[in-house]
Amino acid sequence: MLDHADARIRNGEAVAVIGRSGSGKSTLLNLISGIDQADSGVVEFDGRDITALAEPARTLFRRAHVGFVYQFFNLIPTLDVEENVRLVLELNGVRGLEARRRSAATLAEVGLGDRLHSCVDQLSGGEQQRVAIARALVHEPALLLADEPTGNLDEETARQVLPVLLSLTRARGATLLMVTHDTALARSADRVLELREGRLNELSARATAVSRP
Ligand SMILES: Nc1ncnc2c1ncn2[C@@H]1O[C@H](COP(=O)(O)OP(=O)(O)OP(=O)(O)O)[C@@H](O)[C@H]1O
Ligand SMILES: [Mg+2]
Repeated sequence: MLDHADARIRNGEAVAVIGRSGSGKSTLLNLISGIDQADSGVVEFDGRDITALAEPARTLFRRAHVGFVYQFFNLIPTLDVEENVRLVLELNGVRGLEARRRSAATLAEVGLGDRLHSCVDQLSGGEQQRVAIARALVHEPALLLADEPTGNLDEETARQVLPVLLSLTRARGATLLMVTHDTALARSADRVLELREGRLNELSARATAVSRP
């Protein structure tokens, strides 16, 4: 389905991917994170071909270097806010006080420092997405993948959540690749790529885009 969907994304860039439903946007993210495997082609990450890794190594790679934000939040309802975030650290071998300190600090950054022990399903959609953003970034991944991060939020809430996503990603120097139907969201990225008929086409490059080595 994806055919010559070629793109090079620089470290620290915020890139939006747009395209009609069924064009393969989610598939593209799943290939990049190594959740799906392509029949051909390569995904290189920091000069490393991750398509060549066997499944256990791909899982470890993903866990350590990639964060995800989904349209439907995907929080774990049996864990409280802080536990949802801390789980990612624990999976990466960070435990105890250090893990608690880092999850609380990241939740404070998304404005939820006073909701650490709330039940996730008692939060509003915008709050749940902010927990998901904290969870995606708490382990300082190099790459954040976001699939329709505001797709399940009303316009007003989306306008509040989007700057949180962008500013935390930029503050960490992480690369952001987000799929969106939302043109306002796409405009706030450094670059916009359109996926059409299996290919990625560059739509715009902001003059202000900074490239970091
Ligand atoms: N694992 C898979 N194997 C084969 N085909 C798949 C697989 N996953 C998705 N598809 C198909 O690939 C196409 C693209 O799906 P994808 O979910 O990537 O689209 P999308 O651009 O994210 O759409 P939307 O905007 O609706 O989320 C669809 O026709 C889908 O049915
Ligand atoms: Mg999709």
